[in-house]
Amino acid sequence: MGDRLHRILVERKGSFVSGEEIAGRMGISRAAVWKRVMALRGEGYAIEGARGTGYRLTEMPDRLTEADLRARVRPGGPWVTFAVLDETDSTNSRAMEMAESGAPHGTVVVADSQTGGRGRLGRRWISPPGMNLYVSLLLRPDVPPAGATHLSLVAGVALADALEGMGVPGGLKWPNDLFLGDRKAAGILAEMASDPDRVRHVVIGVGINVNMEPGDFPPEISGRATSLRIRAGRPFPRAELLARFLDAFAGLYGEFLAGGFAALRDGWDRRDFLRGRRVLLRRGRGEGWGVAEGVDPDGALRFRPDGVGSAETVHSGEILEFGR
Ligand code: BTN
Repeated sequence: MGDRLHRILVERKGSFVSGEEIAGRMGISRAAVWKRVMALRGEGYAIEGARGTGYRLTEMPDRLTEADLRARVRPGGPWVTFAVLDETDSTNSRAMEMAESGAPHGTVVVADSQTGGRGRLGRRWISPPGMNLYVSLLLRPDVPPAGATHLSLVAGVALADALEGMGVPGGLKWPNDLFLGDRKAAGILAEMASDPDRVRHVVIGVGINVNMEPGDFPPEISGRATSLRIRAGRPFPRAELLARFLDAFAGLYGEFLAGGFAALRDGWDRRDFLRGRRVLLRRGRGEGWGVAEGVDPDGALRFRPDGVGSAETVHSGEILEFGR
C-alpha cells in the first residue's frame, strides 16, 4: 500500500494529486491516505498538502529503498526482485549466493555501503555509506559462456547512457571502466557460474562514485579516481541514476540478445576512451605497450603492439597504463 502511494506521488512529482484521486486509486479512505502521507513525511519525503488541492511531492530523501526503485523503473522490464541492503560485504557476493539458492533472472541487489567491496584483479572497491551506488544484477541469459562475458560491456554502455541522460558524458575504457575526464568514476565486475556449454547465471556488479568529494578517497587512489559530483560540481540523486541505469540496461540487454554486441557497438565507439591511445596491456602473464585501435563487433579490443604492423584481437586483458 505504501508502495502505491509512493508510486502515485513520484509519477506526478511536482504537481498536486487530489486526495480523492489517490483514495480512489488505492481503494482506501481519504483519512487513510492522509495517514500514509504522514508516514512518508516521517521517512524524509517533502510532501505539501493543501486543503482542496491534494498532495504534492517536492523532495525525496537520497535514500535507496525498494519502493522507490520499483516506482522509478520502467514497468514491464526484467527487474523483478530488489534486495536493498543497508550494508553488506559485497553485493556481488550476495547476488552470487542468491543465484545459487534460486533467485530469479532480474534480481537487483543494491547496498548503501559495502564492507568488502571487490574490484577486478582482487582489488578492493571503496564503498562508504550514503554517497555512492553499489549494485549487482543477477541474470540468467540463455547464451553460451563466451557471450555472457559481453554483458559487462553492455553494462558499460548502459552506464554511459544513464550518465549522459543526467548531463555527465563519460568515456568507456575497455573492458570495464567508466571515466570522467581522465579519471575513473565507475567500474564493473562480472562474475559467472556456467556449465561447459551453458551459462547458469551471471552477476554484473557496478560501482559508481556518485557524490564522493575529493577528501573521501583514500590517498592511494585519490589521484586517479573521481565522482559525478566532483566532475559536475553538483550532487546527484542516487535512486534516479540507478533507475536510469536499470532502464538503459534492460533496453540494451534486449538488443544484445537479438543482435550480439555488434548491436550496441556504436554506443561504445562514440565513447571509446582508449581509441588511438598508447596503452600498456596485460594479457595473462605478459604485458606490453601498443596502440588501442578500438573495439570490434565482437567486443574484443584491437591492439597494435609497438613495432608490429597490424592489430591483434584481444578478448581478455587489462589496460595497466595509458597515454594521451
Ligand atoms: C573495478 O573497477 O575493479 C570493478 C569494481 C566493481 C565494484 C562493484 S560495487 C558493486 C559490486 N560489488 C562488489 O563487491 N563489486 C562490485
